Amino acid sequence: MTSAVELRSVVKQYGSAATRMTALSGVDLSIRPGTFVSLIGPSGCGKSTLLRIVAGLEEPDSGDVGVHGVSPSEACAAKLLGLVPQTPALLPWLDVRANVVLPSRLNRAAARRRRRILEEREDVAPVDVDLLLAKAGLGDAAHKLPAQLSGGMQQRAAIVRAFALRPDVLLMDEPFSALDEFTRESLQDQLLDLWDDLDTTVLFVTHSIAEAVRLSDTVVVMAPRPGRIVDVIDIDLPRPRNARLFEEGRFHAYEDLIRERLHRAWHMTDAA
Ligand SMILES: Nc1ncnc2c1ncn2[C@@H]1O[C@H](COP(=O)(O)OP(=O)(O)OP(=O)(O)O)[C@@H](O)[C@H]1O
Ligand SMILES: [Mg+2]
Repeated sequence: MTSAVELRSVVKQYGSAATRMTALSGVDLSIRPGTFVSLIGPSGCGKSTLLRIVAGLEEPDSGDVGVHGVSPSEACAAKLLGLVPQTPALLPWLDVRANVVLPSRLNRAAARRRRRILEEREDVAPVDVDLLLAKAGLGDAAHKLPAQLSGGMQQRAAIVRAFALRPDVLLMDEPFSALDEFTRESLQDQLLDLWDDLDTTVLFVTHSIAEAVRLSDTVVVMAPRPGRIVDVIDIDLPRPRNARLFEEGRFHAYEDLIRERLHRAWHMTDAA
């Protein structure tokens, strides 16, 4: 089966000869379709760089990147990729519903490309945007402007917008980092519901160990200088993952394992 996302020997450097720094050094990663994968690691270890490369916003210096066997730019043209950036970036002059619907208008050419890449016979079914908004708790806010929403509501609108594309691969860069604990937990639940409903592959960046364990099938631990993958940990916990599970020893055992690997990653440098 073709991977939903595949990186092979990906290298990305920034700066001139004198200031050269290696943001990603020989990154290999293969993500199975329909799985939820989190990236976790110290600040500056290349998580956002990796996401931007998969999104086709940056080119690697060397190595190969594939999204369902095609290049990121082809995947974007076929509207296979959705990106939820760290800040919601809604268009201020459009109401919530219009913001959500805008990028999801799938033109015929994009639909044809998508079918060809995924080897599907039928066009992807359009998403019921109003149902998605309601599920995200934004039913009453559909006709409000972004400026009339709280930060958490704007985040949710950005998430719904990405899902409305029905992306096959959803890239999320710390989407919940600015939210309070309760809003965050509620959005995690909504994200898992949507992921389950829409059968999407998710690549999710977070600094929260609990969030990574709670959401993911696989947690990828990265280390800095140079940015690289140091551990890939499969989270073998049943779904749906509910409040009771979060109190169980096996949930905390995964948290402890990742904390320990992360701790090691903090102390890893070229020199070490
Ligand atoms: N456009 C750029 N020009 C120069 N250096 C860059 C650029 N983008 C990223 N970097 C550098 O590459 C490294 C990786 O950055 P990146 O943003 O991917 O880290 P990150 O893991 O997402 O960190 P954080 O957790 O703080 O968001 C950092 O050292 C950063 O300074
Ligand atoms: Mg980042």
